[in-house]
Amino acid sequence: MSTDDTPQVSFTRMKDGTREDYLLLGRLEEAYIEGLPERILAALRGLENTLSGYRVSRLEHVLQSASRAEDGGEDEEMIVAALVHDLGDDLAPHNHSQYAASIIRPYVSARVTWVIEHHGLFQNYYYIHHFGGDPLERERYRDHPWYQDCVDFCERWDQASFDPDYPTRPLEHFVPMVRRIFSRPPFDPAIIGETPDDRA
Ligand SMILES: [Fe+2]
Ligand SMILES: [Fe+2]
Repeated sequence: MSTDDTPQVSFTRMKDGTREDYLLLGRLEEAYIEGLPERILAALRGLENTLSGYRVSRLEHVLQSASRAEDGGEDEEMIVAALVHDLGDDLAPHNHSQYAASIIRPYVSARVTWVIEHHGLFQNYYYIHHFGGDPLERERYRDHPWYQDCVDFCERWDQASFDPDYPTRPLEHFVPMVRRIFSRPPFDPAIIGETPDDRA
């Protein structure tokens, strides 16, 4: 039972809901979604206490990735993508790339989503042979139109961003960008564009 003053629907089974019930839920959901940028920021702050052993925290890693993307002249979509690319390290440790891609997918181009979705596999290039894996697995995407974008993301922003001495910007610097990207109309065709076939 809810204890606040928010109005509630009449039903206990969805199939019994009235039009008024669903209009009420629609209004409440709209208001809730407006809080998404702040929840993204809270989730990012939570990265301060995830994977250990690196010379920077996971939060510092993503802040540095975003800082390098900005320093490298990337646009706001890719900067924010770099910021959220490791969300899911805590809740989806075996598929964090797909997790992060799902979060950002409604708000950025299909290209940027694809890069985030595949960055884990592409990043394997740098270390997976130490665990007996194939560092060249990403080559099966060689002919994909966004292959090089993902190679560049990993080489320039992701794998390079474990340096405690880099002039990494604080989260506050990226707050306006996070608010702009995650306040966009979801799945706006003018933003997300066309999705090429995934030639996996
Ligand atoms: Fe990652
Ligand atoms: Fe990363």
